[in-house]
Amino acid sequence: TTERTLVLVKPDGVTRGLTGQVLARIEAKGYRLAELRLVHPEQELLERHYEEHRGKPFFAPLVEFMRSGPVVAAVVEGDRVIEGFRSLAGTTEPTTAAPGTIRGDLGRDWGGTVQQNIVHGSDSPESAEREIGIWFG
Ligand code: CMP
Repeated sequence: TTERTLVLVKPDGVTRGLTGQVLARIEAKGYRLAELRLVHPEQELLERHYEEHRGKPFFAPLVEFMRSGPVVAAVVEGDRVIEGFRSLAGTTEPTTAAPGTIRGDLGRDWGGTVQQNIVHGSDSPESAEREIGIWFG
C-alpha cells in the first residue's frame, strides 16, 4: 500500500548538520520526497502538532525544544512508509534505540526533560494526514 507520512528533522538534527544523512537514509530505502521545506515553527503550530501530548510533563519543554532552531519538514511517500520510517528512525529514546537506526546511530540523550531524538515520523495514516495538513496546509 502506498502511503504518505510526515517526517520532521528536529532542531537537534538540523543544528548538528544531520539533515542530509536523514534524507539520504530515506531515499536509500526507496522512499520518495513529495514535499520538503525548512520551517521556523510557531508555538501554535507545534501545540497542534503535539496535541495528543498536551498535559504530559514533557509537553511545554517539547514545544520549547522544537522552537529552539529550524525544523526540516517533509512529506515522504512509499509502500508502508509509515511503519517503515518508524523502523528507520528507531525507538524514542536515543540511548537504547537499536544501532542501524537514525536515533540509535546519531541520537544523543542530553539529560533534559525531552528526548532530543533527531526525527519525528507520523504513527498512523490518520496522524499522517492530520500532521501533513498542519505543516503543509
Ligand atoms: P516524537 O516522535 O516527535 O513524538 C513526541 C515526542 O515527545 C517524542 O518524539 C520525543 O521527542 C518526546 N517524548 C516522547 N515521550 C517522552 C518522554 N517520556 N519523555 C520525554 N520526551 C518524550
